Amino acid sequence: MGYNVAIDGPAGAGKSTIAKLLAKEKGYIYVDTGALYRGLAIHFLDRSINAQDIGAVIEAVKEADVKIKYEDGAQQVYLNGRNITERLRGEEVGRMASATAKIPEVRDKLLMLQRNLAAEQDVVMDGRDIGTCVLPDAEVKIFLTASVKTRARRRYEELTGKGESCDLETIEEDIKKRDEQDMTRKTAPLKKAEDAYLVDSSDMTVEEVVRTIAALCKS
Ligand code: CDP
Repeated sequence: MGYNVAIDGPAGAGKSTIAKLLAKEKGYIYVDTGALYRGLAIHFLDRSINAQDIGAVIEAVKEADVKIKYEDGAQQVYLNGRNITERLRGEEVGRMASATAKIPEVRDKLLMLQRNLAAEQDVVMDGRDIGTCVLPDAEVKIFLTASVKTRARRRYEELTGKGESCDLETIEEDIKKRDEQDMTRKTAPLKKAEDAYLVDSSDMTVEEVVRTIAALCKS
């Protein structure tokens, strides 16, 4: 049985940065579950499926085979045998992932894959429903958040750092919309598990957040 650390929280809270550093320090495998939803989103986008057309999404999901592999310690996502990791972080992909993640058939498709990864090895897994639904027995649960303004600025820096042109106000609006979508959906909404530690990273450095969480994990 693996040692499981679950980190949930809204878009831009810093989950992936923190989870990656924590995994490295502790020798755990980092599992980015958002990348799985993004992988399915690419499947829908490539088929020009409208996220509102639930029937078409449910049909298409049956033909999607998403797999995670680790190459030189980095997570790679494969969709029907093709490595699509490079395409995962696009804004359009994020919007499609959030819009389709509310569909139970989409979540079911990824549930066992996530549980199996955590059963086999020590993992730090980040997402929206890891502590509440995917790994309810995780040894450590964290709900990582930050103010909307801070999260929008971080996302802006992430995108401009990659040379993508974007606008801070649009990103802030997008983050608010994504929060609303993730928190109000019926299936596995984003919420803090009762037994999760709340960490607000608005005024914390990355190093401080990693130290805080590492202190809660077994040494
Ligand atoms: O990095 P960012 O916070 O923008 O998003 P992500 O973690 O890559 O996830 C993209 C979308 O997938 C989120 O907006 C969620 O709607 C959905 N998601 C989910 O529903 N459950 C998860 N465990 C992970 C992601």
